[in-house]
Amino acid sequence: MSMIERVYAKAKADKKRIVLPEGDEPRTLAAAAILRREGLAEPILLGSAESIRTAAEQAGADIAGIETADPACSPRGEAYAEALYELRKAKGLSREQAAELAKDPMYYGILMVKLGDADGLVSGAVHTTGDMLRPALQIIKTRPGIHIVSSSFLMNCPNRELGDDGLLVYADCIVNPCPTAEELAEIAVTSAHTAHDLCGVEVPRVALLSFSTKGSASHELVSKVQKAVALAHALDPDLLLDGELQPDAALVPEVGAKKAPGSAVAGRANVLIFPDLQSGNIGYKLTQRIGGAEAYAVLQGLAKPCNDLSRGCSVQDIVNTAALTAVQAQAAP
Ligand code: ACO
Repeated sequence: MSMIERVYAKAKADKKRIVLPEGDEPRTLAAAAILRREGLAEPILLGSAESIRTAAEQAGADIAGIETADPACSPRGEAYAEALYELRKAKGLSREQAAELAKDPMYYGILMVKLGDADGLVSGAVHTTGDMLRPALQIIKTRPGIHIVSSSFLMNCPNRELGDDGLLVYADCIVNPCPTAEELAEIAVTSAHTAHDLCGVEVPRVALLSFSTKGSASHELVSKVQKAVALAHALDPDLLLDGELQPDAALVPEVGAKKAPGSAVAGRANVLIFPDLQSGNIGYKLTQRIGGAEAYAVLQGLAKPCNDLSRGCSVQDIVNTAALTAVQAQAAP
């Protein structure tokens, strides 16, 4: 079974409620119909009943039996507004502002997840990453023991000799523009958990990437990665983790043996930690576009799962992301 087939099987075994705030968007409607038909999740569509029905007809999506809610006039609106006010009043949010925000489908969906009326959220066919991330960070916040939300890209590469039978986990490619050494260390450990828990990688081998391997270059950027390696070892002494490594030393056994002899990770890494968002985002897109890899993105470290789509996403991308979100929800505290 491929990684995504394993995810489908897990999602079906314990079905979760996934809220889709962009409920009258044609690809989202088509995906909701597939999720329900295939038993991958119970989708919940947000929007006015009329706009959802009209858009579904136009998209030819069978949404019979799928739950919908209209944030503009929902009976739950008052409770959501009050919860939002309580969560954000210390940050200066007024009751009136909370009532207005709770009518916004993105905030409403995130409040559904926060209050347990949905198990996870998927959006981004229309909204930007920041539109979803900001309220998710403000309302759902991090898991206990985690200080920073980040992301992993699950890269399914055609070359099965790479990583774990072709699967490489890349982080962080979405959230943190310029992580500190402490943040990089936490991203490394969290990504290893994502590789193990979500992707079924039995033994995560984590490489912290740089333009230097084991001191081959001296620069403050290299020193930051070296510090992150030491901090990550302290966070999880049992984790197979090494750095700083160049990508060839991390991935190619002969190069790893030459540049980092004796390393348990070099040449066999399956989790790659990029030093910043520019390198991570560029790296995953090059792997996808030039290397022909399939790319699946998840956020990690949130107390409950919310995931982002690319605005150019396909119906299948939405189905896959919802299935991944459902499996994350199964493990949420
Ligand atoms: N982990 C946990 N909490 C965080 C994080 C984080 N990584 N980042 C911000 N927060 C918290 C803050 O502490 C703050 O909490 P508070 O209001 O309770 O005090 C809240 O989130 C908002 O923080 P801000 O700093 O006001 O938010 P900001 O405007 O910086 O937005 C965001 C945060 C959206 C994550 C920003 O860093 C961002 O835009 N990142 C890049 C997103 C992006 O464009 N990615 C690339 C494209 S995606 C793709 O290619 C697939």
